[in-house]
Amino acid sequence: MAAAPTEFDLPIYQDAVRYDAEHWWKTDDLIFWREMAEEFGPRVLELAAGTGRLGLHVLQTQATYTGVEISEGFSRRARSKLEPFGGRARIIQGDIRQIHLAETFDLIFIGFNSFMHLLTDEDALATLRCVREHCHSTTRFIIDLFVPDALVLTRPEDHRIQAMVYPDPETGATITVEETNDYDPETELTKVRWYYSTTGERDFLEYDFTVRIYHPDTMDRLIHDAGLRIVEKWGDYQRTRFGPDSTLQIYVAQLGS
Ligand SMILES: C[S@@+](CC[C@H](N)C(=O)[O-])C[C@H]1O[C@@H](n2cnc3c(N)ncnc32)[C@H](O)[C@@H]1O
Repeated sequence: MAAAPTEFDLPIYQDAVRYDAEHWWKTDDLIFWREMAEEFGPRVLELAAGTGRLGLHVLQTQATYTGVEISEGFSRRARSKLEPFGGRARIIQGDIRQIHLAETFDLIFIGFNSFMHLLTDEDALATLRCVREHCHSTTRFIIDLFVPDALVLTRPEDHRIQAMVYPDPETGATITVEETNDYDPETELTKVRWYYSTTGERDFLEYDFTVRIYHPDTMDRLIHDAGLRIVEKWGDYQRTRFGPDSTLQIYVAQLGS
């Protein structure tokens, strides 16, 4: 399935080596997804699979894994990482708003804030309808994204915060990534800019991308409107019930409203 170029075909998601290098620190969700695959698998579908970061861990279980990813470069890297798993792993380059695989899965998930790339209600609902199409009566569908932070949303748009620090995979030089956010409360879209610097070269690379800020009440409404029923809502990867102090919103949904 070849994906048509869209606003989601972001330059930031073309450099798969850089993505893996700069996200070295994102490990707190690995055990969680392995456990989900063990409990709710064995046939697992990940939406917006990236470079296979989570697929690698799902495949530590007995699961079969299908990842759908829009970026060609990311799909290629994911395929090469998952090659050792042979027929148990497959990466499909495609758009999660329009996938039709003609099969159902036991666990479908979209992790690490990827849902935020769905910029409008229409995009979110199109994706959720595709999810429904791949569900059977006991399929679990899980979404993981962060709870919006009022401090970030009200920060002046030129105020930089440090987002990530990582070693350049080629040169070993330390790269610092700073971030600015320009949030529009009307559209709930935030324009993000990442600035890459080394000690010798400030802002040698900049990436712009737009994501939607999803508040918990919006998620409740969209999941319901798509004909899915929320069976659990957790606030962290330890499955604590979602509450006012939660930093994550993790939805477990099933067919039915
Ligand atoms: C934050 S990354 C997460 C990747 C991976 N799930 C992980 O946990 O590392 C978001 C991913 O969503 C992909 N993406 C965004 N919009 C998409 C769409 N409409 N269809 C498929 N993939 C999409 C991006 O290309 C990117 O790989």
